[in-house]
Amino acid sequence: MVESLKRLKRALCAFLLRMKIRREANAAFRYDRRLFMRNAGALHPERKAAAVSEIVMGYHVLEKGITMPHRRLGFGRDAACRLADLIDSFERRFGKGDGQVDHAASVLRAYRELHRDWPAGMERLDAFLAEHPCAAAVEPHVRRADFFAARESPFPAFAASRHVVRHFGGPVPRETIERAVSVALTAPSACNRQHARVHAVCGKRLIERLFALQGGTRGFGQDADKALVVTADLSSVRWGWERHDAYVNGGIFVMNLAYALHHCGVAHCILHWSVSPRADAEARKLLGIPGNEAIVQILACGLPPEEFDVAASPRRPLCEAMVWHGGAG
Ligand SMILES: Cc1cc2nc3c(=O)[nH]c(=O)nc-3n(C[C@H](O)[C@H](O)[C@H](O)COP(=O)(O)O)c2cc1C
Repeated sequence: MVESLKRLKRALCAFLLRMKIRREANAAFRYDRRLFMRNAGALHPERKAAAVSEIVMGYHVLEKGITMPHRRLGFGRDAACRLADLIDSFERRFGKGDGQVDHAASVLRAYRELHRDWPAGMERLDAFLAEHPCAAAVEPHVRRADFFAARESPFPAFAASRHVVRHFGGPVPRETIERAVSVALTAPSACNRQHARVHAVCGKRLIERLFALQGGTRGFGQDADKALVVTADLSSVRWGWERHDAYVNGGIFVMNLAYALHHCGVAHCILHWSVSPRADAEARKLLGIPGNEAIVQILACGLPPEEFDVAASPRRPLCEAMVWHGGAG
């Protein structure tokens, strides 16, 4: 009788705890939703930071195009004109002098120089560049040996040498991938719960179908030898406020994996998984990923060719990225 009462009490406590966690999770998701709706740049394009982001995405598309393996001249003409319009509009509203916006103008000049013999349709760009007398952005062309030269260097030099690569010249041995994933498993995780999992995808057809759902590999995905799908196990999430934990821990793991791949000499490109619920469900079906694993990101991998181009992707200065609180420090 006493045992039964104890069991009943335990079951009731577990039930009440689950109710509490459900309530917390609902409140947390509502809070996130409100924050998103009030602040996401996509919904508030009039804000300066949102306008800069739109311009960064605009120049990123062109930088990618300029450095793409199967580049065909004439690419991105509409995107280039649109970027010129965005920069003009930005400078009218917020003035000149933003480093990222200045870089966007330099990318437009590099684009124009690449198309110096292009017959027509560049009038808008020429008018813009006449008003913006900047130098052309330099998109590094590197030899494989130089790109990986800092593999054993102290961390600042090693970190500065890592870049995503969209040129793949051959297959990566399975053992190399396993070595990189083993290193990536040193990533920290909340309470050491180690949420991350890696699904290694081989075979051209399967990779192609996965990338078609992802949508960010046009022009280079077809050359990838393997795709690494990083997931995080939602079973490791312990309470409602931890609603971001799969993605936070998964994201930390992805960064560690990117460094590990770079250290192992593997060319890789991190790929977003900001897809519709339908695409997410289709990817799960395609690869047999169970419902308890949240797909976090994908990495396209391959051996790098002897020489290749890398997008410059310059960073903001420290003063724009860091804020001190509570005194001089
Ligand atoms: C979360 C995330 C998602 C990304 N998604 C894509 C993508 O879909 N396609 C792509 O070509 N690059 C993608 N990238 C690569 C970024 O464009 C690249 O990391 C960025 O421009 C900085 O360049 P770097 O990594 O060479 O320093 C992604 C990177 C991250 C971190």
